[in-house]
Amino acid sequence: MALDPTFIVLFGGAGDLAWRKLIPSLFDLYREGRMPKHFAILAVDRLAYRDQDLHRRFLGGVKQFARNKKVTTKDWGTFAGHVTYHQGDFQDPATYANLETVCARMDKAWKTKAGRIFHLATPPEMVRIIPKLLAEAAAHRDRSRDRIVVEKPLGHDLDSAKEMSRALRQSFDESQIFRIDHYLGKETVQNILAFRFANPLFEPIWNRRYVDYVTITVAEDVGVGHRGGYYENAGALRDMVQNHLMQLLCLVAMEPMVSFDADEIRNKKVDVLHAIRPIARAGIGHFAVRGQYGRGKVQDKEVQGYRREEGVSRHSSTETFAALKLFVDNWRWQGVPFYLRTGKCLARQLSEVAIQFRSVPHQSFPPEADRAWSPSRLILSIQPEEGIEMGFQAKYPGPKVLLRPVAMRFSYRESFAVPSPDAYETLLWDVMNNDPTLFMRADQIEAAWQVLMPVLDVWASSTPRDFPNYAAGSCGPKAADALLARAGHAWRPIA
Ligand code: BG6
Repeated sequence: MALDPTFIVLFGGAGDLAWRKLIPSLFDLYREGRMPKHFAILAVDRLAYRDQDLHRRFLGGVKQFARNKKVTTKDWGTFAGHVTYHQGDFQDPATYANLETVCARMDKAWKTKAGRIFHLATPPEMVRIIPKLLAEAAAHRDRSRDRIVVEKPLGHDLDSAKEMSRALRQSFDESQIFRIDHYLGKETVQNILAFRFANPLFEPIWNRRYVDYVTITVAEDVGVGHRGGYYENAGALRDMVQNHLMQLLCLVAMEPMVSFDADEIRNKKVDVLHAIRPIARAGIGHFAVRGQYGRGKVQDKEVQGYRREEGVSRHSSTETFAALKLFVDNWRWQGVPFYLRTGKCLARQLSEVAIQFRSVPHQSFPPEADRAWSPSRLILSIQPEEGIEMGFQAKYPGPKVLLRPVAMRFSYRESFAVPSPDAYETLLWDVMNNDPTLFMRADQIEAAWQVLMPVLDVWASSTPRDFPNYAAGSCGPKAADALLARAGHAWRPIA
């Protein structure tokens, strides 16, 4: 599909996100012939850069992070010809006036009025400033084709998220705002909808009658790296649960959509968030567990512990691990616990959703047949394995009746001979295509914050005495296992 002429204005163009994600993804799209015929990338930032220095920096990022790391001089040369640098202070109206002039000049050359995408790869406080100054600078322009892209953190709590939405909506209509959660751009995450709603097989058992409980895990083996300063004020609940894990929960628990209309899908997701049973502040311990990694070894590499990371307080109370037990109070899910967990410096990287089915209503096999019996389980693997696994019972070969758990697997890599695009490729293309399906709406963000506020409040008001409470390279704090064990449930092992 041919895209309309487009300006992509990257605020924070000299920063890490542009270098690591945005430019490599745009370059991959370009190589696949998926960029518009007329496009210009305007990187805006405060530092002094010449175009050629910026190009050199971006090329370094592309060679490291693009999907296809082999870069020909010709491809890079023609792509870089679309990229220019514009030095400017984000708080200075002159920056915006200059951008207007540059865009007007190109519009003239292209003989069109190109759509403009303003991507805020900036600190969050810029959301209060950039949209306002953009609107003022373009007061006399038809802004109906302008779009604004914002990155997380989308608020620090419910109030600040509302405030952020208000600031954006003063200058842009909700339909022009694209809030990125990069998990929604992952192929395996999008596949949850395909799996559930393009097959009649599983939907009839996708409910409280057949599902015992659901676990959603996003385990990372990496620590906070150089992001200690940011992470200290965020923690696992804000950094991962409020967005990525909540999105996964919505996709697993939502009702079938009537059509693929963006708002239809987003409405169904918001319904899930509204149905989550509020967590009572008094009983937080029964529903939420926090952890922080201490010294340990992750895949043979020594880790000093979170409190030793750069930019982190030696007495930090920030959680690097969070687990929650949630209930979705509706007809489909009444009584089925959804367990969410995420953490840094765990034994290995693993993102998956596991649907654990109920036991058979009556066990007909002799007790000695099913000593190794385990309930049927469906695993939606998001990363690093990308696929789906169905675990069930089969008869072990031999004269005796013995049951053993076995698995049936679908692997993306083996089934499809095409590489998956990076999440950002998908999302940036959708923004250019003006398709908001995979982006978060304000009400969704606020509903997710609403669910977490009791936990955030209680955790903020009480110092965790046992931190650090899990060793780097382990499966997380013991209390997270106990959260499930009380109901006779268990996480799938990470290690
Ligand atoms: C980001 C978080 O949103 O997601 C990071 O801020 C985290 O802390 C990252 O490491 C994980 O993303 P992915 O795609 O590597 O699973």
